[in-house]
Amino acid sequence: FDAVDVIAAKRDGRTLSRAQIDWVIDAYTRGVVADEQMAALAMAIFINDMESAEIAHWTQAMIASGERMDFSSLSRPTSDKHSTGGVGDKITLPLAPLVAVFDVAVPQLSGRGLGHTGGTLDKLESIPDWQAGLSNEAILAQLENLGAVVCAAGSGLAPADKKLYALRDTTSTVDCIPLIASSIMSKKIAEGTEGLVLDVKVGSGAFMKDLAKAQKLARTMVDLGTDAGVSTSALLTDMSTPLGLTVGNALEVRESVEVLAGGGPSDVVDLTVALAEEMLRLAGKTDVDVRAALSDGRAMDVWKKMIRAQNGDPDAALPVAEHTEIVPAPTSGTLSKLDALAVGVASWRLGAGRARKEDPVQDVAGIELHAKPGDSVTAGQPLMTLHTATPEHFARAIESLEGAVEIGGDLSAVSESIVLEKI
Ligand code: URA
Repeated sequence: FDAVDVIAAKRDGRTLSRAQIDWVIDAYTRGVVADEQMAALAMAIFINDMESAEIAHWTQAMIASGERMDFSSLSRPTSDKHSTGGVGDKITLPLAPLVAVFDVAVPQLSGRGLGHTGGTLDKLESIPDWQAGLSNEAILAQLENLGAVVCAAGSGLAPADKKLYALRDTTSTVDCIPLIASSIMSKKIAEGTEGLVLDVKVGSGAFMKDLAKAQKLARTMVDLGTDAGVSTSALLTDMSTPLGLTVGNALEVRESVEVLAGGGPSDVVDLTVALAEEMLRLAGKTDVDVRAALSDGRAMDVWKKMIRAQNGDPDAALPVAEHTEIVPAPTSGTLSKLDALAVGVASWRLGAGRARKEDPVQDVAGIELHAKPGDSVTAGQPLMTLHTATPEHFARAIESLEGAVEIGGDLSAVSESIVLEKI
């Protein structure tokens, strides 16, 4: 095969054969196909789309580029969750220990944030001394002993995706259903989980801004998982406004611990419970009282063991920002919009996120919300508190909040329930 012929085929709208796909992914992983050739192919896929069989072959080739984990030696079934990324999405933190309470093992191999969406590992790293990196043997041991592990995905899983994702990030080819679906599902299938629930976000803070595109992405991923022998389902969930009342690393850990203590904001609790029930259903457990495990401390017990097993102190004080600034409500009335993307970008500018992969993040930076869409507010009352270690960033963060807040507008777009649909 020749890279130029494969690119030309996709450029001209033809379907790539399985052999062409196997060759191009393998050659790219080995450095035989150059970055600029893969970038051209990604753009051709972006423009001309792929058929379902092509997406399946592409995903299989990405899985074959690396190792596959095997959890079949565990004494309990495995079930995992993957979110397509949002603002204030800390759900993995209460969810993994909650599911483990019911003797289902949760192998959460996670990533760091890039852009305005946060990363689970960045959040957990705000806990003093917590370690993200574990060997495959340590992952298996922790799953057997505690039933839950949240750690860094090793470099061995789908290495083709690692290279391709970095390339897409710099060539405006991220927002493409075949490329997103194959990227996510190659990693999750290689991870070796038996059950998988996809949390597909819809709204301003998500990749998919509208319901129809989110449905198509969800359907594509569910089919890829099912064909690979993974019990897969998807929840479409609202990401027009941030999840919960905190955005930012240590702030989100604080809120997750509130949920594990039986409290926390209702949208975070509802989504955690809905995803836990679905993960347990895929593992064959239907008659379980998930909420009880949050209120009676069983999920908190697993959380503390999980944090200690990775060298963290679950009882240590979390870092707190030295500088805060309040954003007041401009008028009185019902809050009709609090835009997820704008809040995500503001939090990122305060220091909670990174612009390049190698940048550090601030543990303390982020935004606390004092009201959510549907709440009534009074002019001058605090609407948000901005947190940062670098007060010179307040001005740009406030700039990105321009237009984020609407009071007294149309309430019909405010979602009543966090879960919009199940696929
Ligand atoms: N997350 C991924 O892992 N890959 C994508 O392409 C998009 C989101």
